Amino acid sequence: MPRIFPRPALKKRENTFVIRQYGDGLTEGKHYLCPANELSRRNGVIQIHASRGSRLLQFIQCTEQNDQSVRDELLAGLSAAQAFTSPKYLYDALGSKLFEAICELPEYYPTRTEALIFKTHGRAIAQAIGSGTTLIDLGAGNCAKAARLFPALQPVQYVPVDISVSFLREALQRLQQQFPSIVMTGIGMDFSSELLLPDSVRDEKRLFFYPGSSIGNFTPEESLAFLQRIRAACDEAGGLLIGVDLVKDKAILDAAYDDALGVTAAFNLNLLRHMNHLVGTDFDVQGWRHRGFFNDKASRIEMHLEAASEQIVHWPQGERRFERGERIHTENSYKYTQRSFTDLLEQAGFRKLSFWTDPQQWFMVCHAHVN
Ligand SMILES: C[S@@+](CC[C@H](N)C(=O)[O-])C[C@H]1O[C@@H](n2cnc3c(N)ncnc32)[C@H](O)[C@@H]1O
Repeated sequence: MPRIFPRPALKKRENTFVIRQYGDGLTEGKHYLCPANELSRRNGVIQIHASRGSRLLQFIQCTEQNDQSVRDELLAGLSAAQAFTSPKYLYDALGSKLFEAICELPEYYPTRTEALIFKTHGRAIAQAIGSGTTLIDLGAGNCAKAARLFPALQPVQYVPVDISVSFLREALQRLQQQFPSIVMTGIGMDFSSELLLPDSVRDEKRLFFYPGSSIGNFTPEESLAFLQRIRAACDEAGGLLIGVDLVKDKAILDAAYDDALGVTAAFNLNLLRHMNHLVGTDFDVQGWRHRGFFNDKASRIEMHLEAASEQIVHWPQGERRFERGERIHTENSYKYTQRSFTDLLEQAGFRKLSFWTDPQQWFMVCHAHVN
C-alpha cells in the first residue's frame, strides 16, 4: 500500500498522479496524491495501489497531475503547419452530451446498427463470452451499451473508463442505483498512451468492451499498439468485445458526420471552447465552420474546423494566425473491412475470433479470445 497524502499536500509535481476516490454517494471526494514510483508495472499495465475498500461503488480518477503535458500537446498541435488536435479533446461534459445527441440522429447509423446486432445476436455473443467477467468498458460515456449487456453477461465487476470524468461519474451513480448488486469501479483517465488500471480491478476473466467504433479514432498503427496493450492486460480467460464500423457508400458516411441539424457541427465546435478552458486560447467559435467527410483513399472520416475568415488566436506566451479556409484537423474515424480488422486482431495476438454483422453489413461486432 503506498503512502497517501491528504488534499492540502496536493502540489504540482512531475510524474505524479492524482487519485480521487469517491465514496458511495460519489459526491464527497477524497483526493490523494500518488507518486509515480508507487505505481507498479505488470505486463505493461500500470497498477495504482489505491486503497481497496469494500464498497460496491468506487470512483478513481487517474489524471496526470502535471497539466503541462495537456497544454504542451494541444499547443504543439495548434502550432503545427497543418494544425491538429486529438479527438479525445472533443469530450468535456458538454461534448459527451452532444455525442449522446449525435447517437439519436437519423444520419448517425453506427449506434442503432450496433444495437441491432446486439439485439439479433445477443445470445450467441453471450455464449462466446461466458459469464463471470470483469467487464471493462473503454470510453464508456453514459454506460448505456454495457448496461444492456448486464442481464446476459452477469459481470462480477463493472469497470467503466472515460476521459470525460464528471459525465462518467454521474452516469455511474445512476447505474449503480439500477443495478445495486454489481460491484462498480469507475475510472477517470486518458487511456490513449497507457492503460492504467488500479489493483481494485479484478484480474480474472477481464472482458474489454470497446463499442461504438471508437477504435477508428486511432490510426491502424496506433490501434495495433492499443489492442496489444488490451491483450497484455488480460489473463488467459480474458477477451475483447469490440464494435467496428465498416467501409460503405461515401454519401452515407458523409451524412453521418455532417448531419442536417448541425449537432455534429456543435460537437466539433465545442472543442474550441474546451481548448479555451484547457490552455487559455481565445478562440471565437463563431469564426469557425465544421467540415466532416469521408476520405476514401485513407479509408477514414475526417473532421476539421475551418476558419470562416482570418482568425488570430492568442494564448499565454503565443499566438497563431489562420487564413480564411485554413483548417484544424480534429478527428479521424477509420473504417475497416472484416478482412482488414481480422488482420489487426490477429497481429495483436488475439485468437478464436467471432464476428456478427447487420443485414446491410454496415457495422460489425467482434469477440476475440486472448488464448
Ligand atoms: C465515440 S464515444 C463512445 C461512447 C460509448 N462507448 C458509445 O459507444 O456510445 C467515445 C468515448 O470515449 C471517450 N474517450 C475518448 N478518448 C478517450 C481517451 N483517450 N481516454 C479515455 N476515454 C476516451 C470519450 O469521452 C467518449 O465517452
